[in-house]
Amino acid sequence: MSSAPKSSYRDLILEHYRKEAEKHGQDASSTMRDEITRGREVTAVLRVVDWLSAREKKLANLVDIGCGNGYLLEVLRERHPQLELTGLEYTPELVEIARERNVERCPVVEGDVRDLPFDDDSFDAVVTERCIINIMDQEDQARSLREVGRILRSGGYYLCIEAFTDGLQQLNQARAELGLLPNEQPYHNIWFDKEWFLQTIAEQFDIVDLDSEDDRSLPVPNFLSSHYFVSRAVYPAVTQAEIVYNSHFVKFLSFLPPIGNYAPIQFWLLQKR
Ligand SMILES: C[S@@+](CC[C@H](N)C(=O)[O-])C[C@H]1O[C@@H](n2cnc3c(N)ncnc32)[C@H](O)[C@@H]1O
Repeated sequence: MSSAPKSSYRDLILEHYRKEAEKHGQDASSTMRDEITRGREVTAVLRVVDWLSAREKKLANLVDIGCGNGYLLEVLRERHPQLELTGLEYTPELVEIARERNVERCPVVEGDVRDLPFDDDSFDAVVTERCIINIMDQEDQARSLREVGRILRSGGYYLCIEAFTDGLQQLNQARAELGLLPNEQPYHNIWFDKEWFLQTIAEQFDIVDLDSEDDRSLPVPNFLSSHYFVSRAVYPAVTQAEIVYNSHFVKFLSFLPPIGNYAPIQFWLLQKR
């Protein structure tokens, strides 16, 4: 596994997300141009928080780590006025924008997922929405996952939305069949190897199998698979063009249930033992 030298990590990430902050401000498009992907991520988090709140009746607090411009926190606040919310963000310009939202009872802390400034066992739920893939070193990614486990109370939940190489491989096989060149990981990410991820989280977490709940509104790991197949394989093959975000063609087919394993971005619900 290749890793960027640790000294360059800070510059590379801060430079990338500083530009993102400048360009997109408080908009939902910040860090995600694809409206369907953003919408599904947010819906997945809301649905699971609803589901946990109804089941457990003790989801008192939640922290969004790598909260970016705070968009998810604002949506969560509207839906769950009682939930104590916290945001943690690494890029100072995004911390600023997230704070400017003034989400009620939601401090936004500047910090690093590799070394979280929170006590052990202090949260009922943690969300990461494409955060830990920005850590350009696999050992530090493992350390970050352990940090998430450390700050969760026993029985607490980790809503993990990160990107995985198995989804990319399957997508690229589909693209090759359609005469398309492979897609690549962005320069500022290292996506998770599935076997490595499952081994790493097994130290602290059990996987919650939402597929067995018989409720199609609950997200499953491949929640974006059909969307990726349509938008990143079928659409470019039909148009012979690079990806065009939010096309009518892709939106039209967005009702499809998730089939296969064609999306790098996956949703894993984990419970701390
Ligand atoms: C792909 S963006 C996602 C942001 C937000 N979750 C969203 O969905 O818009 C990744 C975020 O992780 C933050 N980040 C990068 N390295 C981090 C670190 N070491 N600790 C905490 N956050 C980090 C970035 O600044 C950025 O805001």
